[in-house]
Amino acid sequence: MIRQFDTYSLLPHNTFGIEAKAARFVEFGTADELVEFLNGGFAGNSLVIGGGSNLLFVGDFNGTVFHSAIMDIDVVEETASHVLLRVGSGVNWDALVAYTVEKGWSGLENLSLIPGEVGASAVQNVGAYGVEAGDLIEKVETIRIADAVACSFTKVDCDFAYRHSIFKTAEKGRHIVTYVTYRLNKSACFKLSYGNLKDKVEELGGETLANVRRAVCEIRAAKLPDPQQVGSAGSFFMNPIVDAVKAAQLKDEYPAMPQYPLPCGDVKLSAGWLIEQCGWKQTPHEHVGVYKHQALVVVNLGGATGRDVLAFASAVVASVKEKFGVNLNMEVNVIG
Ligand code: EPU
Repeated sequence: MIRQFDTYSLLPHNTFGIEAKAARFVEFGTADELVEFLNGGFAGNSLVIGGGSNLLFVGDFNGTVFHSAIMDIDVVEETASHVLLRVGSGVNWDALVAYTVEKGWSGLENLSLIPGEVGASAVQNVGAYGVEAGDLIEKVETIRIADAVACSFTKVDCDFAYRHSIFKTAEKGRHIVTYVTYRLNKSACFKLSYGNLKDKVEELGGETLANVRRAVCEIRAAKLPDPQQVGSAGSFFMNPIVDAVKAAQLKDEYPAMPQYPLPCGDVKLSAGWLIEQCGWKQTPHEHVGVYKHQALVVVNLGGATGRDVLAFASAVVASVKEKFGVNLNMEVNVIG
């Protein structure tokens, strides 16, 4: 059933815990309902939200916010080696990961405990511990907002890269994701090379899907704030990518700087390390600060407005630019 509300509070729909209102909020339970709604003469600004874990509202949203409540999960193909799982965009991401681990299907376990919903995970290409959602995605189904036409994007069409998909560039703002199909393995192929993940899995009793999930959950819980307790949007910035020459200069000056060479020759830096070196763990603003265990996460210390967060983030960006000559780009989408 489609649900519609006017002047709707988005407070429960953003993990930063910021008060903002949408002129209209529309929640659909099926793709057909969404098509019917759009064909009824929809016009104006639109915003699609999932779990609201990657958004910063700096004002009210004078338009229609769409939220998916498509919750079905179906095996659409199964062979001896894999399953194709078609998942509604409104399904909670971590509930999906838990379900696949329970079924013994491998692929998503490193992405345990990431907040948010299935639709947004494809748009953002969420990633953690050496795996990105796009690695497992076979197909993304959407409804195009302008003409209510159903569209289908293959993995290649989606143009996945680090925290990037076509839904953030050429197709930005044009689609509402309805289903995402994942290719999962029936025999586990573990990816444990990130940080201390392998050691943690060994500590828990060795390589099983359930142990990998537990290890990731424990590592995340130690480093990242619980969205139920502390307002944040996870990583506020993307890790910056610089060319090899700049990376070498920085390494000469700061030998302890973590650097991750990419296949293309560029080098990914750790935004959390850069921010910590600028002293931000010690200098919180009244309502905003960085998380004590992970400087990449900007936290609402209580009563922050979206503008407070943005002002704090701008000061962080300026300090990193001044000290290291490196530009930080926001991962969070600023709305309003
Ligand atoms: N570091 C510091 N100080 C900090 C934070 C990090 O020195 O305050 C150093 C760490 O010691 C480590 C390096 O920076 O040497 C990397 O840190 P970490 O492993 O915590 O990963 P990250 O690069 O900071 C990324 C993702 C996270 C994801 C982790 C694990 C981005 C923007 N963030 O963080 O994703 O969980 O890797 O894969 O790529 C998210 O997107 O919300 C998110 C949490």
